[in-house]
Amino acid sequence: MIVDFDKASPEAFYKILIGSVLPRPIAWVSTINREGVPNLAPFSFFTVASSNPPVLCFAPALKFDVFEGTSKGKPKDTLKNIQDTGEFVVNIVSQELAEKMNQSSGSYPPGVNEFEKVGLTTAPSSRIAPPRVAESLINFECKLHQVISFGEHPGAGNLVLGRIQCAHLHESVYKNGRVDLDVLHPIGRLAGMEYCEVKDRFVMVRPEV
Ligand SMILES: Cc1cc2nc3c(=O)[nH]c(=O)nc-3n(C[C@H](O)[C@H](O)[C@H](O)COP(=O)(O)O)c2cc1C
Repeated sequence: MIVDFDKASPEAFYKILIGSVLPRPIAWVSTINREGVPNLAPFSFFTVASSNPPVLCFAPALKFDVFEGTSKGKPKDTLKNIQDTGEFVVNIVSQELAEKMNQSSGSYPPGVNEFEKVGLTTAPSSRIAPPRVAESLINFECKLHQVISFGEHPGAGNLVLGRIQCAHLHESVYKNGRVDLDVLHPIGRLAGMEYCEVKDRFVMVRPEV
C-alpha cells in the first residue's frame, strides 16, 4: 500500500508518522516570555543534531486554532518565547516525572507558569535566563542557532536548533564519564497516549571493517 502525501489528510499522515518514528525521546522545554514568566512544555519531535558543536533540535508545530481572519496557525508559547529571547532549556524526563510532564502539556494560555501549575521547582540556569526543572536529572542550557519553518498553516513544524551552552547532570546519574540509564530511567513517546520505558536492552558489537 502506498499512502500519498498529496491524497492523505494531514491527520492520517500525522498518525503514520507518530506510529512509525518511535519510540521518541521527550524534550521538556523551559523558556521565559518577554516579561520573564517561565513556560514549560514537552516535545517528542526531538533529537541530537550535532555533538561537536553540541546541538539539540525539536519541532513545535503551529497550533490548529488559527489567527482570526487568516488561515495561519498560531505559534505555541515555547516557539514564541524562543523567537523572542533566543534561549531555552531541554530537561530530560525520567519515568518518575511522567505525570507532571503530561500535565505540563495542557494548552494553558500565554503567561501561565506551568512550573507552578503542575508543582515543579525552578532551578536557575548558569548561562541563560530561562530556569531549569530542578527535579530533572539532566538539563541542557541552549542558545538558539536557527529556526527552520515548514510553513504558516496549522500543523506546520518549526525545527528549532539550539547550541548547548552547558549540561547539568545530577551526581547520581553521571558516573565515570557515563550517564547511568538505570538511574535516568527515561521514557519514550509512542503513538496516541502510549509511552514506553527503556527496559529490554540488548548489546551488539559493531563490525570492524
Ligand atoms: C509527550 C508529548 C510530546 C509532545 N510533542 C510535541 C511535539 O513534538 N510538537 C508539538 O508541537 N507538540 C507536542 N506536544 C504538545 C505540546 O506539549 C502542547 O501543545 C503544549 O501545550 C505546548 O505548550 P506551549 O504553548 O506552552 O509551548 C507534545 C505533548 C506531549 C504530552
